[in-house]
Amino acid sequence: MDTGAYREQYRRSLDDPTSFWLDAARAVDWVRPPSVALDDTNAPLYRWFPDGQLNTAANALDRHVDAGRGERTALIWDSPVTGATAQYTYRELRDEVARLAGALRSLGVGKGDRVVVYLPMVPEAVTAMLACARLGAVHSVVFGGFAPKELAARIADAAPKVVLTASCGVESSRIVEYVPIVREARRLVRDRGAPEPDHVVVLQRDVARAELGDGELDWSEVVTAATTPADPVPVAATDPLYVLYTSGTTGKPKGVVRDNGGHAVALAWSMSAVYDVGPGDVWWTASDVGWVVGHSYIVYAPLLVGATTVLYEGKPVGTPDAGAFWRVASQYGVKALFTAPTALRAIKRVDPEGAEIGTYDLGDLRTLFLAGERLDPQTYHWASERLGVPVIDHWWQTETGWPIAANPRGLEPLPVKPGSASVPMPGWDVRILDQSGEERPAGREGAIAVRLPLPPGALPTLWGDDDRFVSSYLSRYPGHYLTGDSGYVDVDGYLFVMGRTDDVINVAGHRLSTGAMEAVLAAHPAVAECAVIGVADPLKGQLPRGFVVLKAGADISEEQLVTDLVAAVRAEIGPVAAFRDVAVVDALPKTRSGKILRATMRHIADGRDVPVPSTIEDPEVLDRLRTALRPAT
Ligand code: COA
Ligand code: AMP
Repeated sequence: MDTGAYREQYRRSLDDPTSFWLDAARAVDWVRPPSVALDDTNAPLYRWFPDGQLNTAANALDRHVDAGRGERTALIWDSPVTGATAQYTYRELRDEVARLAGALRSLGVGKGDRVVVYLPMVPEAVTAMLACARLGAVHSVVFGGFAPKELAARIADAAPKVVLTASCGVESSRIVEYVPIVREARRLVRDRGAPEPDHVVVLQRDVARAELGDGELDWSEVVTAATTPADPVPVAATDPLYVLYTSGTTGKPKGVVRDNGGHAVALAWSMSAVYDVGPGDVWWTASDVGWVVGHSYIVYAPLLVGATTVLYEGKPVGTPDAGAFWRVASQYGVKALFTAPTALRAIKRVDPEGAEIGTYDLGDLRTLFLAGERLDPQTYHWASERLGVPVIDHWWQTETGWPIAANPRGLEPLPVKPGSASVPMPGWDVRILDQSGEERPAGREGAIAVRLPLPPGALPTLWGDDDRFVSSYLSRYPGHYLTGDSGYVDVDGYLFVMGRTDDVINVAGHRLSTGAMEAVLAAHPAVAECAVIGVADPLKGQLPRGFVVLKAGADISEEQLVTDLVAAVRAEIGPVAAFRDVAVVDALPKTRSGKILRATMRHIADGRDVPVPSTIEDPEVLDRLRTALRPAT
């Protein structure tokens, strides 16, 4: 590997993290600059910049306006599903955010209060997040494709004062009315005995307006009524900026906490060093604000560095065609595009030759960044050959907030190795460990762990649950953070991420828990036991596949049971689970102590040759399942 800037910076970040991160912190405007980088007095819980004070929204907006760059474009909204577009300068966006923050304050929202944001990809989703940040309130954005029960779980855990929502979202195939979903979620929250939000504020969209009921307020009326815009409220660097719930190994989502200071420092650093994007550049992340990629790279990072960010309410295909991405990139002069491999596979399926690419002028496009799931080499080659720009895979998680491994295009572009997310970024001391915690040699697969402390920007804890943070991530290998992914590092130090070691699956770039799906299947009166695993899918990367065993004497046709189970997962988790495939089997493979051998099932489904575990209770059960599990050839 090259021994240039990357290696030098990487070593410095691990050998002298204090000076590395205090230097990086200069990119941020502080109300009180930090004098200390790391607080390790409560290890294994670490905090960054413990005595620093700042406001993240002021860094994202006001500082650019104050520096005379207020007339630059901050946000471009492009919505092929409604036919609308809009643009906001930094000054306009700051003013919108200050007004909405004033409105939230008039509803009683202050520093530390939570606000749940359940919005489609409209500019108000961005202003909602930034308005919370301006007040020092904590936003929790919930992805629109989740069902009421998932929304309720998040409301119950975050206990928000206000829920910000819209009358509807627009999917290519249908209009999704949000207000009934929010009402149902509130009912579920009430049933649990959890506190309900004081207000639901509804953005009326002309596509489908909502009749407002009890406790529901009209967004524009609330904003108009609040006549005083809010100024940025200084918060501690360690105060929470947001909570983003993500799937874990159980049904209960984990509330990943992001702080203000470490987040701003890490994102600003990544924007120039990893993505090579700075003031005035047009940057487009084609994801959703409901996911971490949307939080970090649609909203915060591009605005922190004074770039122009594109917010796209559409799909890669069907809105209206497979040229949509190239149209947007060309129309706005996008310098770098970031999306998930599944989006490219969707385009490739409709336009295998990439003919649409040639019909647009992509002269400004320098780089395509991909993350969210493994980048398969075919998709890598297709995109790099058709687009003629570097295609950069990089690996990260909701928990980490920014890339653990990447090819740092701004710091030092390194050679690309297809199939690899390239090299660990500064601050990420990546280790490949075996079962007993010993490091594995180059080329050998193991659990990917990161030595503590994690760098700024990574989660300091889970919302209200330090114990779960420690037991989920820090206990398996003491002194390390467990990523839940497995992989290996080659002799050049390149990291290859191979897949999850737990029950998390990745469907079209959406992270889901098979444990949560199993809980839904198990609740059916005819189901005795069940397992859900992720199986490879050429479009979505993975799809969930369920296996159920009927209760003795269950009186239901297989067809009816499958219909019931598919409907139940859609109703309880949401359409985003894409759960359509479930088989009734006579038994599930288990250990003698009764544990279902899900990992073995997963490996067979992946086409890997796995030995029959010695602990298996009845090897014949596995043999009978093999045909159902094997990938179709
Ligand atoms: N609100 C409501 N419903 C939503 C939704 C939202 N925000 N997002 C998705 N859904 C629904 C879809 O309408 C679909 O419903 P259906 O079963 O009635 O058709 C279902 O959830 C599954 O959606 P999705 O997985 O998005 O599949 P799709 O077939 O609509 O589109 C892709 C497939 C690949 C084009 C699309 O998933 C995509 O663009 N993925 C990129 C993912 C991404 O950005 N990930 C973030 C990490 S970078
Ligand atoms: P999320 O928290 O939704 O961002 O999902 C994180 C998970 O997605 C990781 O733990 C990986 O399993 C997977 N993932 C994300 N990016 C990549 C990548 N570049 N290569 C392989 N897997 C990835």
